[in-house]
Amino acid sequence: MCPLPLRSYDVRLESEMNQPLDFNRLLRLKPVAKVFKSEITGVIRLTEMEKLFHIRIIDDAERERFSFLPGQFVMLEVPGYGEVPISISSSPSNKGYIELCIRKAGTVTNALHRAHRGAKVGIRGPFGTNFPLERMEGQSILLIAGGLGLAPLRAPIFHVTENRSDFRDVHILYGTKDPDQLLFDYQYEEWRRIDDVNIQVIVEQANDSWKGPVGLITKLLDNVTIDPNGTYAIVCGPPVMFKFVCGQLSQMGIPMDRMFVSLERRMHCGMGKCCRCNVGDTYTCTDGPVFDYWSVINLKEAI
Ligand SMILES: Cc1cc2nc3c(=O)[nH]c(=O)nc-3n(C[C@H](O)[C@H](O)[C@H](O)COP(=O)(O)OP(=O)(O)OC[C@H]3O[C@@H](n4cnc5c(N)ncnc54)[C@H](O)[C@@H]3O)c2cc1C
Ligand code: FES
Repeated sequence: MCPLPLRSYDVRLESEMNQPLDFNRLLRLKPVAKVFKSEITGVIRLTEMEKLFHIRIIDDAERERFSFLPGQFVMLEVPGYGEVPISISSSPSNKGYIELCIRKAGTVTNALHRAHRGAKVGIRGPFGTNFPLERMEGQSILLIAGGLGLAPLRAPIFHVTENRSDFRDVHILYGTKDPDQLLFDYQYEEWRRIDDVNIQVIVEQANDSWKGPVGLITKLLDNVTIDPNGTYAIVCGPPVMFKFVCGQLSQMGIPMDRMFVSLERRMHCGMGKCCRCNVGDTYTCTDGPVFDYWSVINLKEAI
């Protein structure tokens, strides 16, 4: 049930009446209810469960105007099936289309996995908070993902690698259960070739062809030397993963308000209206999905 009272009424106790009402959330809301008619212009099979979709807004002027910041998501509508929140996985500088990396999970995502080039879809957005990359300029940055977490991490990776001189040391750390589940493996060499980017990939279970390290992603942090007060971290993955990673980053001395994670909750409207995604009185669609780790551990039931 939605914990907030109807917003059109002032339901505060008389003793609270001298406190100003916090309308910040409402003020921050952008009225983006418009559905952009779009089409799938490319489908790339990444693994057994994930595909990368190139999605192009059909109207030229709307496509030109559409922009997003790394960490934001769209609501993707598959006509006849429904709408799902999906992180934008492409470079914010790419104006032609957006890329969405989508795992088969249920009704909508399975329908999408059957779709081909030319299929019509709708997108609303972009929604939500972003990773504060401008605050990280001049600092070192750790970009860490587990499993499907590389999907939301890919947009900040593009931003950082396209603006490499704005950051000090850049480390990309990625881990999955086994080599067959690695996403975007064709891109690691490309990122490695960028001046002074340290990329390390680890799997929990090797197969015969795997030559890299084996273990949990936290093991990769043993090979990283950082200046804790000059470093920011962006960590994307399942909550159990970012709990352990952020715990280890804390032990390395990185303050919790310098670590950023993306929280996933079931969403419906994406814009603070339906009360589907709240944790306490925090809406993950408008106050998040990107939060600093200090806020996350203070959110009841967030992880
Ligand atoms: C901000 C945000 C960004 C996301 N980005 C991506 C992305 O980049 N790529 C991607 O593949 N998925 C992403 N997701 C998850 C995606 O939205 C769900 O997998 C999708 O909504 C499932 O819809 P469905 O109709 O296919 O499955 P359903 O039939 O609705 O559900 C199938 C199963 O998936 C579970 N599920 C549904 N929604 C979620 C959710 N939000 N989180 C975890 N489990 C869920 C259900 O509990 C159920 O077990 C994101 C979610 C959020 C909130
Ligand atoms: S998804 Fe509707 S309020 Fe967040």
